[in-house]
Amino acid sequence: MEIALTIQETTKKELIEALSWQVEMGCDEALLDDPTLADDWQVSLDQVMASNTAAQEPVISPPSSAQAQPPLAQLSEPQPQTSPIANPPSDKTKDSIAHITSLSELKQSLSDFEGCDLKRTATNLVFSDGDPAARIMIIGEAPGKDEDRMGVPFVGKAGQLLDQMLASVKLDRQSVYIANIMPWRPPGNRPPTAEEIEMMRPFVEKHISLKAPDIILALGGTACKALLQSDVGIMKLRGKFQQYQTITNVASLSLPMMPCLHPGFLLRSPQHKGLVFQDLVALRRKADAIGQ
Ligand code: URA
Repeated sequence: MEIALTIQETTKKELIEALSWQVEMGCDEALLDDPTLADDWQVSLDQVMASNTAAQEPVISPPSSAQAQPPLAQLSEPQPQTSPIANPPSDKTKDSIAHITSLSELKQSLSDFEGCDLKRTATNLVFSDGDPAARIMIIGEAPGKDEDRMGVPFVGKAGQLLDQMLASVKLDRQSVYIANIMPWRPPGNRPPTAEEIEMMRPFVEKHISLKAPDIILALGGTACKALLQSDVGIMKLRGKFQQYQTITNVASLSLPMMPCLHPGFLLRSPQHKGLVFQDLVALRRKADAIGQ
């Protein structure tokens, strides 16, 4: 019995160390079959918002399950690095988008676009959800199985958790606007490749500029890296506002952006809910400050 306990304890310690190492290395998605839905987001936002803490560094009580976090890398000021463009979009693509002046035209031009192979394996184009007049634009990675079937972003398990995340700061689907870096589901839910992301960049930039939000919430490492043209991992980026800037000639825009952990990651690692809540509170505060 004694030996068994020792082995269990050692194994637990090793597992926590291995997990911490993975997080530090930037592994921000885990693929398991049976995620646990988090259900204790009901912390007191009013209490948090009423505190005098600086907007970017709220001191809050995280949801109870977030208290026993494995050690994370020291979160220093992120310095996004520019990565080389894997596959620059063609001038023809950019020219065909440049003249577009409405979200419905952009949706139509995506429907007509034949340059991306993902379109051929997807069931539906997943363009957006929420209020086109909302001040906050949420940008995720790519549709999954449920989103592909319904043609709406974030409607599966990760989407249900996103709804809970938003509710924790008194937001909902109707008070934000939601889109993805990639409007078609990659087969088998693999992450979009660098080439696919670059091919679709003009559409994403046009989408953001037509929507013209005050602030962006970027969910997960893929979206953050794509939007910031950065190789810095999400664990280092999150928690601090970054400046999103367009780089193609289809739009010219510079906006504050909060990098945040992806709800799909949170389903597998609910112990990080506290970090997400901090980022959402900072987002909410900034949005409120801009709106005043
Ligand atoms: N994950 C995403 O990044 N986007 C979706 O729409 C669904 C899951």
